[in-house]
Amino acid sequence: MIIPNIRNNKIIIISDSNVWKLYKNYILKKFLNSIAKTEVITWIGPQGEKIKSIKNYELASNYILSKNINRNSLIIAIGGGAVSDFAGFLASTLLRGIRWIAIPTTLLAMIDASIGGKTAINVGAGKNLIGTFYPPIKIIIDTNFLKSFTSNKIIDYQTAYGELIKYAFLDEKIYKILIRQKPNIITNKLIHKCIDYKNKIVKKDPYEKKGIRFILNYGHTFGHAFEKQYNIPHGQAVLLGIEFILKHFTKNKTLLETKFYNLIKLHNLQNLLEIKKRNINQFLDFVLKDKKRSSSKYIKLVVINKIGSAQVVNVTLNTVMEKIKNEY
Ligand SMILES: NC(=O)c1ccc[n+]([C@@H]2O[C@H](COP(=O)([O-])OP(=O)(O)OC[C@H]3O[C@@H](n4cnc5c(N)ncnc54)[C@H](O)[C@@H]3O)[C@@H](O)[C@H]2O)c1
Ligand SMILES: [Zn+2]
Repeated sequence: MIIPNIRNNKIIIISDSNVWKLYKNYILKKFLNSIAKTEVITWIGPQGEKIKSIKNYELASNYILSKNINRNSLIIAIGGGAVSDFAGFLASTLLRGIRWIAIPTTLLAMIDASIGGKTAINVGAGKNLIGTFYPPIKIIIDTNFLKSFTSNKIIDYQTAYGELIKYAFLDEKIYKILIRQKPNIITNKLIHKCIDYKNKIVKKDPYEKKGIRFILNYGHTFGHAFEKQYNIPHGQAVLLGIEFILKHFTKNKTLLETKFYNLIKLHNLQNLLEIKKRNINQFLDFVLKDKKRSSSKYIKLVVINKIGSAQVVNVTLNTVMEKIKNEY
């Protein structure tokens, strides 16, 4: 049985309008048939980042609480990373915590967002600034959900390659699989290798306190700045962030850059790198405001000089500013 049978209790489905429209029947048949006698409450939010607002948090909480749930009720989050961040946050705070299951429906959510226990909503002060560490009790990977991307929303699907290439540089086994993969076809094996890798790192540092988990931010320091400045998808921004690190902060860069651009070419990702860079001061400002920055004089960066060996280095602000000036 995929979903645990929670007799005499309630299941709360959280999804977004797009996923629900595309997959409602599939979801009910595949995941909820076995629990036909359990009461199911459904809360469907807006698609994408919009769901992660305080307003939606309040709306969903009030709706769910009005249905008399209790601590043994179970949330099932079905959607991309925005849905799992939001539903996980709800689960961690409703009645001081109820269990939740993640059913990721985007590649990014399968290999990254649903793993590692970080939940979040957005506030005016910034993205993901309110959140908890609260892993789901189960993550169900079903690559059937990816079919709708490969057929007509290829861009949304492709941006997840930012995280895939990050994993490929962090772990040589993943690199070897990705370089042999057919363009735009991602196998179960590759998805599970990424999940295992992230789980392995998160287990050593679940609350991001020891610095170990920080290596998962490869490409993210500058990536976050690109994401904010150009309002582009997270994965695409990470791809640009990796390119930036390779170009400006990497030893043996020719070798790694060749590997990077080979992956870009193989998977037809050139379009994601074609951003017209503008307004250097704004970019710099976003880099300096990154929430993971710990000191006023340095920027903490993850650098990979050889596939499989990531290092965290402190780079002075002056050096970073010089490099950014070269870029613009
Ligand atoms: N918690 C973490 O560790 C973590 C890690 C990375 C990213 N994130 C978060 O994840 C979010 C991004 O996630 P995302 O890239 O999955 O995007 P998303 O959840 O915003 O979804 C993108 C779009 O794809 C649609 N969609 C979802 N599944 C679909 C399917 N199977 N077919 C067709 N359309 C589908 C959605 O409706 C939405 O319009 C961000 O909010 C980011 O902050 C969290
Ligand atoms: Zn990321």
